[in-house]
Amino acid sequence: MDKLNIGTEADIYPMPVALIGSSLRGRANFATAAWLSRICVDPPIMMIAIGKKHFTNAAIRDTRTFSINIPGGDLVTQTDYCGLVSGNDIDKSLLFEVFSGSLEGAPMIAQCPLAMECRVLNIISAYPSDDLFVGQVVATYTEQRFLTRGKPDLRKVNPLLLTGADNHYWMLGEQVAKAFKVGKALKQSKQGAADG
Ligand SMILES: Cc1cc2nc3c(=O)[nH]c(=O)nc-3n(C[C@H](O)[C@H](O)[C@H](O)COP(=O)(O)O)c2cc1C
Repeated sequence: MDKLNIGTEADIYPMPVALIGSSLRGRANFATAAWLSRICVDPPIMMIAIGKKHFTNAAIRDTRTFSINIPGGDLVTQTDYCGLVSGNDIDKSLLFEVFSGSLEGAPMIAQCPLAMECRVLNIISAYPSDDLFVGQVVATYTEQRFLTRGKPDLRKVNPLLLTGADNHYWMLGEQVAKAFKVGKALKQSKQGAADG
């Protein structure tokens, strides 16, 4: 197999796109983030990587709370804007209709199909440019129109995705197979071969 070493390209394809809600001295702020992931099932724990100089970083340290808002494709322009300008220079608090849940300092965006409010569990400052904020989801908010059988339906949510190498926003493609199911036949045939 002719593999090429292409250096240290380290992006995952694609990345989710979120707007991180935070608040400092009572002013709501939203910053675009693609470096985020769920890291624990129960309780539900999320991790976001946020630049050390960002308004969001200082705000989350102050309140120890933040929100993760998932914008639909219709919010692509506002989402990009929130990643181009900093709350250190520009007031982004009036860009969206904002609502609150149970946590102080975690403003959420009404126009986003999904919004999670998170309480900070850990802050990991071990890396040169970004800090990791680990937060437990205390509540997730959506609307009936984004659900199918009580669960968020990604065809209705229509989340934005990002490719890092060429910096493009994408939308979801086709379903390929059912996860935790499509591999079962192979698992069984391997098991059968091992059992003899
Ligand atoms: C598509 C996109 C993804 C981004 N992902 C991240 C990210 O994961 N972490 C981060 O710290 N900054 C990320 N940024 C950059 C910040 O959103 C940007 O620096 C913003 O101005 C920070 O805002 P703040 O200072 O108000 O917190 C991203 C920007 C864009 C456009």
